[in-house]
Amino acid sequence: MTDPRSGGIAVLDFGSQYTQLIARRVRELNVYAEVFPFDASQEKINAHHPRGYILSGGPNSVYEVGAPQMPRWLMKDYPVLGVCYGMQALTHALGGIVAPSNDREFGPAQIHHTQDNPLLHNLPDNMQVWMSHGDRIEQPPVGFVGLAASDNSPYAAMGDPSRKLYGVQFHPEVAHTPQGKDLLRNFLFDVCDCEPKWSPIAFIDEAIRSIREQVGTDRVILGLSGGVDSAVAGALLQKAIGKQLTSIFVNTGLLRKNEPEQVVQVFRDQQGMNLIAVDATEEFLENLKSVTEPEAKRKVIGKLFIDTFAAQARNLAGEGVKFLAQGTIYPDVIESAASSKSSHVIKSHHNVGGLPPDLAFQLVEPLRDLFKDEVRHVGTALGLPDDIVWRQPFPGPGLAVRCLGEITWARLETLREADAIFTDELAQAGMLRHGTSQAFAVLLPVKSVGVMGDLRTYEEVLALRAVTTDDFMTADWARLPYELLARASNRIVNEVRGINRVTYDITSKPPGTIEWE
Ligand code: XMP
Repeated sequence: MTDPRSGGIAVLDFGSQYTQLIARRVRELNVYAEVFPFDASQEKINAHHPRGYILSGGPNSVYEVGAPQMPRWLMKDYPVLGVCYGMQALTHALGGIVAPSNDREFGPAQIHHTQDNPLLHNLPDNMQVWMSHGDRIEQPPVGFVGLAASDNSPYAAMGDPSRKLYGVQFHPEVAHTPQGKDLLRNFLFDVCDCEPKWSPIAFIDEAIRSIREQVGTDRVILGLSGGVDSAVAGALLQKAIGKQLTSIFVNTGLLRKNEPEQVVQVFRDQQGMNLIAVDATEEFLENLKSVTEPEAKRKVIGKLFIDTFAAQARNLAGEGVKFLAQGTIYPDVIESAASSKSSHVIKSHHNVGGLPPDLAFQLVEPLRDLFKDEVRHVGTALGLPDDIVWRQPFPGPGLAVRCLGEITWARLETLREADAIFTDELAQAGMLRHGTSQAFAVLLPVKSVGVMGDLRTYEEVLALRAVTTDDFMTADWARLPYELLARASNRIVNEVRGINRVTYDITSKPPGTIEWE
């Protein structure tokens, strides 16, 4: 079987915040797309034999000194589509003129499609598009014609169909350009002659082949966290190399209700995995005693986690294990590649440092080409249950950052019970997968007075938090139905000892954060 990654699209990143979206849209059309820094080597960019190139947008002006330029080797044989800055880079490279525009365009605009051509074929004459540019094309390169215009951009789209070179001033990859996907489809299938052969499922066979090729008959260690990425990596490795894999799961005592049991049940019992489950609950509690400051909690947990994992890994290294598998996914790869270059990435959370230097494993990263939604599809195809595959993000330090104030076993248990009730109510309403991006309970170190039966109570307060977000950088609080909140609150106060008051957090991010610590 041929590699489903071959014959796809290489996306050259000039620093736009939308670059990853271009690759995602292309993959949604069943064509593999991979993002490269604009100045990556020709050999690297062409490793999977792309059939065409898309140049992303970017924040620069192409005529400025030091501005990123299109690689010269690009236009030789294969089609190119420049998007926004990418279009300007294409124009500049081919001798056209790019200049600052008097009227910068940001946001929605109407374009009028002036010529039938492969790129805009079957698209409406008038289309709404999303613009975000200060510069514009004054004069296209020789051989190019205007294909569409907006009020401010006489060349909102341009092309030289004989050389299969195109540029669009707007962003076809964003949802605000409703016909953007159709335009990309035209580019992929009519201009580049790509075949729709990429799918997360097609990826599995190739990934298994490549894991086997990389590790041969050697053994591999994997850290299972309970999260989606390591779970899917585990299921894939288990299928590829079975008994050569040993997974390590550290129960920190800071996971949600039933999570540690579920990891053992799914991976050891159902998948037949060699699983070392370490119960480090006591050590974590001991080390967290009297630690109340959020960053201090994170430090303690990060260090102890690494120490615990490293001790197990060192034993296995002693048995000759050379490989360490990780659930790195594509956005992690792109972010770390891009951060030193043109785009500005703020990495906010680092859970754990690296392993100590004496543990120099070779890395196996079978998911490094996949987006999150693709990882989930692969997980389902490998037989993982929905509640693992569709799990919401959960912070590395776990419930420690949701148990405000001092962490004790009793308070963790209270929080776990309350969180499970909230999750259960959301699940019953179908709002864990649709309607909330992250939802959880937070136990506050505050007591309030209540009354239950004839008795006065004086117990802790629980906050419920549910947000909607695309990127977790900004978020809005979820407008949960009152009825759901009422049931959750009622059940929590009645069923969980130690809580007599429930509040709902109605702060967006910013100014709040998603977690409370
Ligand atoms: P905040 O609270 O910063 O959270 O708005 C944004 C996203 O990051 C998660 N988060 C963490 N993830 N280690 C993690 O792995 C951490 O220390 C950490 N703190 C917050 C949070 O759950 C949300 O998804």
